Amino acid sequence: MGAAVGAVLRSQGHRVVWASEGRSDETRARARAAGLEDVGSPAEVARSEVVFSICPPHAALDVARLGLFAGIYVDANAISPARVREVVQAAGGDAVDGGIVGSPPRESGTTRFYLSGPNAAAVAELFAGSVLDARVVSDEIGDASAVKMAYAGWTKGTAAMLLAIRELARAEGVEEPLLAEWDLSLPELRERHERATRSANAKGWRWVGEMEEIAATFEADGLPGGFHRAAAEVFRGR
Ligand SMILES: NC(=O)c1ccc[n+]([C@@H]2O[C@H](COP(=O)([O-])OP(=O)(O)OC[C@H]3O[C@@H](n4cnc5c(N)ncnc54)[C@H](OP(=O)(O)O)[C@@H]3O)[C@@H](O)[C@H]2O)c1
Repeated sequence: MGAAVGAVLRSQGHRVVWASEGRSDETRARARAAGLEDVGSPAEVARSEVVFSICPPHAALDVARLGLFAGIYVDANAISPARVREVVQAAGGDAVDGGIVGSPPRESGTTRFYLSGPNAAAVAELFAGSVLDARVVSDEIGDASAVKMAYAGWTKGTAAMLLAIRELARAEGVEEPLLAEWDLSLPELRERHERATRSANAKGWRWVGEMEEIAATFEADGLPGGFHRAAAEVFRGR
């Protein structure tokens, strides 16, 4: 996602740099393909006017703690509103909360970038007219992340539930009658299960942290976090 967002910013005429220090060959190849300029270390990236953090949810706070960001720091990761407030404090300076919904943006209509915080409009402006649809939610840090948590709570939460339900039927030796009943009364579920299996096999391990962030978001509002703690378990096993 980071390489794709960088490519969009390049297409908008901006210089886009990244830090290869400690990163894998796969990440280097994606950054090269996106035409991003490697400045080596995070300290060099930190001098930029705007810094985007787009990494696995469990790494968001560590990235912010690299600190000393000179300009606007945008956290675009799938983390809870409480976590993003920690990130903002760690990053220092001006910060913007972000949450991305959709696939890595390559054509219009696929991807929304929700933004919130006092500087959200300035960040949205960077994407004006591009394939990435940037939308300001509010001027409150935490609101953009809350949109992402609520959205992914449904998409990935129900995917995990469907995977667990079919496993249960298999374990009980009743998979065939369940599938026959799905075909009769819930015909969309076979296809949804296939999609959930494909996605979970490809990237389920990366969703464990995101499910834990969603559970924490529910619990912070006095709502049950158990759905998404269970979803984390389902994805941990993939
Ligand atoms: N992909 C999507 O369709 C999508 C959609 C919506 C939102 N997002 C959000 O975008 C973020 C990134 O997701 P992704 O799908 O792009 O993940 P990804 O394909 O696994 O890429 C994560 C990138 O972060 C790097 N990284 C890992 N640990 C790091 C650390 N401690 N410090 C700095 N960089 C680190 C990885 O580098 P290495 O290769 O060296 O590990 C890799 O380049 C997540 O918060 C996710 O929720 C993604």
